[in-house]
Amino acid sequence: MSPIGMVLESEECPQLKKVKRLADLTSFFKPTSVAIVGASSKEGKIGNAIVKNIISSGYKGKIFPINPKDKTIESLECYPSVLDIKENVDLAVISVPAAGTLKVAEECGRSGVKNLVVISAGFKETGHQGLNLEKELARICKENNISMLGPNCVGMMDTHVPLNASFAANFPPKGDIAFISQSGAMLVAILDWSMVNGLGFSKVISLGNKANLTESDFILEAAHDPVTRVILCYIEDVADGEHFLRAAREATSRKPVIILKSGVSQAGAQAASSHTGALAGSDLAYSTAFAQAGVIRSTTMAELFDLAVAFSRQPIPSGSRVAVITNAGGPGIVTTDRIEHHKLTMARFNKNTVEGLRTSLPAEANVYNPVDVLGDAGADRYRLALEKVMTDESVDSAVVLVCPTAVTNAEGIARVIIEAHRSYPEKPMFAAYMGGEMLAGGAHMLNVARIPCFTFPETAIAAIAGMSAYANRKSAGKPVVMGEIQGVDRHVVKEIFQRVKADGRLVLLGSEAARVMEAYGIPSAPTVLATSPEEAMEQAEIMGFPLVMKVASPKILHKTDVGGVKIGINNVEEVSNSFLEISENVHKYLPRVVIHGIELQKMMPRGIELIIGMTRDVQFGPLMAFGLGGIYVNLLKDVAFRLAAGLTGPEIEAMIAETKASTLLRGYRGEEPADIKAVTNIMVRSARLVTDFPEITEMDINPVFAYKQGASALDVKITVS
Ligand code: ACO
Repeated sequence: MSPIGMVLESEECPQLKKVKRLADLTSFFKPTSVAIVGASSKEGKIGNAIVKNIISSGYKGKIFPINPKDKTIESLECYPSVLDIKENVDLAVISVPAAGTLKVAEECGRSGVKNLVVISAGFKETGHQGLNLEKELARICKENNISMLGPNCVGMMDTHVPLNASFAANFPPKGDIAFISQSGAMLVAILDWSMVNGLGFSKVISLGNKANLTESDFILEAAHDPVTRVILCYIEDVADGEHFLRAAREATSRKPVIILKSGVSQAGAQAASSHTGALAGSDLAYSTAFAQAGVIRSTTMAELFDLAVAFSRQPIPSGSRVAVITNAGGPGIVTTDRIEHHKLTMARFNKNTVEGLRTSLPAEANVYNPVDVLGDAGADRYRLALEKVMTDESVDSAVVLVCPTAVTNAEGIARVIIEAHRSYPEKPMFAAYMGGEMLAGGAHMLNVARIPCFTFPETAIAAIAGMSAYANRKSAGKPVVMGEIQGVDRHVVKEIFQRVKADGRLVLLGSEAARVMEAYGIPSAPTVLATSPEEAMEQAEIMGFPLVMKVASPKILHKTDVGGVKIGINNVEEVSNSFLEISENVHKYLPRVVIHGIELQKMMPRGIELIIGMTRDVQFGPLMAFGLGGIYVNLLKDVAFRLAAGLTGPEIEAMIAETKASTLLRGYRGEEPADIKAVTNIMVRSARLVTDFPEITEMDINPVFAYKQGASALDVKITVS
């Protein structure tokens, strides 16, 4: 059962539809044979580099160079075409000019090749013609059940197979980091950098144009790869939001996924016409998707790899309490600041630890966190401090800072840190050797012992913060199953939308939106439309008093500003007068705007003003908003966002808790608490509404009044496509 008590409803909801199965990539990464179409004996050509790379990587399977002009390439028998190979080919790497790739792909299809890596450039990145070529290539692959990486990529590597099916200059050492990159240039740069930094990789994938296999396929593959411990991605976009969320969620339940996503433009926000859309911005859907899927987002390449090192070499901390040991005060303070900045906690040592430190260290030493072992500290003093701190159960991770004084023994201290890490392997340990030449030997020893050693403590703290964020994600909870929400009438909404579209409108009138709310069980203030003062009076008598009257025109965003709203109407005379007054006001301010009439709404008692809204992201679908509502919503920007796809009960609670609105809802300054359950109910039902109807592009319910008991939607704006 969901937090609001849902029961199964028979009608199918789009969210429940089965998502497409992702590709099985076993034979892609572990092929028994590889063909290189466009293999070349000419030094300096990509087709030559690929053959050499496959051989020099130590690949144990069969290698078939393909080139109609040669008999042998790199001492291997060469074939004129894949069709001439009389054995199974699991993987073909294509390195012929783009125009020739279709024929090669077709031949691969005919000869039963299961996987392709298309290195060739000249596809969608070059324009319309290239895009058509790429579509054709993807079609051939699909028809022949071929999984294709690329086109326009550097290739792929698996260090454990081993196989280097790429034209990169380096083949990295074996490791446990899978690196997936949409940029080939970024990938080759990182590989070269990793050679000097001793970073090992399990898999390296250059995604290229992602015409067939995408980041989601490889994230999922790496998630199930037993030798991969951490997944790193550089992406510019995701190919399919739904697949990405599914793959990322599954992957993060197994191991950390860290993504650097470039392109964070605000262009989308400017184009939005609703409050929710304007508040969201185009990058927000990505950050929200990453957060909801448990992905750690890095903002720089350096951070991406610092986190990779941390996750690859250290255990996940069981909490956020950090101990700092330093031989200098200043760096200790800087580190403390960063711990606070990242919302980590400075560990509070227990009494025994403090006493132990006091008796072991000189009187001038600081025995509280950060422990200052003083500038003249030798390795022994670090040992004493580490022994006490690491046994303290209020410490989840430790950072050791070393500044080079004339008496600092960097290597001796490194030995002590390594010993301490061996004794307490379950607690992550980091070092910051704050210097250069004098500390290089010790820093090197630490890195060899897989204890991340950085030049400055900020990097260590950022890494711990990333690891803690990953540790915390595990309690995300079960997604709310939209199809289980009771009391939903899709037909009523369908009919309303059909009428709105037939009328040539994109925005629903308030009275129509109120009926949509009603159909989805969202409590809202009764609203009707009147087209004349007489009709308004008639409706008012049926509805009862007091009433609010509002101009009905989807073109008017801020009705109060044009004199389009009258509140506290208590009798039919006032109804008639208000009808005329509102009409005149609006005509005066906006003479060219067509009005559909005047809406009468039951005047509701004031509650806490909230906004519940939705803006639809092209990749990830409905992005739900919750926060403080009313006319200052854009000014206050007290809004939290979550994707409707896979929204969980705890996430809804977290969404509310993130905003200042939650303080009001819990009862501010002696006020009684509001009915948070009723607010949650509106959120969940709104999420189902926008999931059921993809034609809803934006929705603002502003305000929603939250009461001591219950909640009610007041002003509802629904925009359809
Ligand atoms: N079957 C077998 N062999 C063929 C076929 C075929 N259908 N067609 C051509 N060949 C042979 C050629 O005869 C040639 O052989 P040779 O070297 O013995 O003369 C070889 O295959 C290569 O063909 P070329 O026409 O010489 O093409 P070239 O090697 O110059 O270029 C390449 C091919 C590398 C695919 C090029 O078209 C290309 O796309 N380059 C850019 C690659 C790229 O940048 N990819 C993106 C990476 S991301 C990043 O940039 C970091």
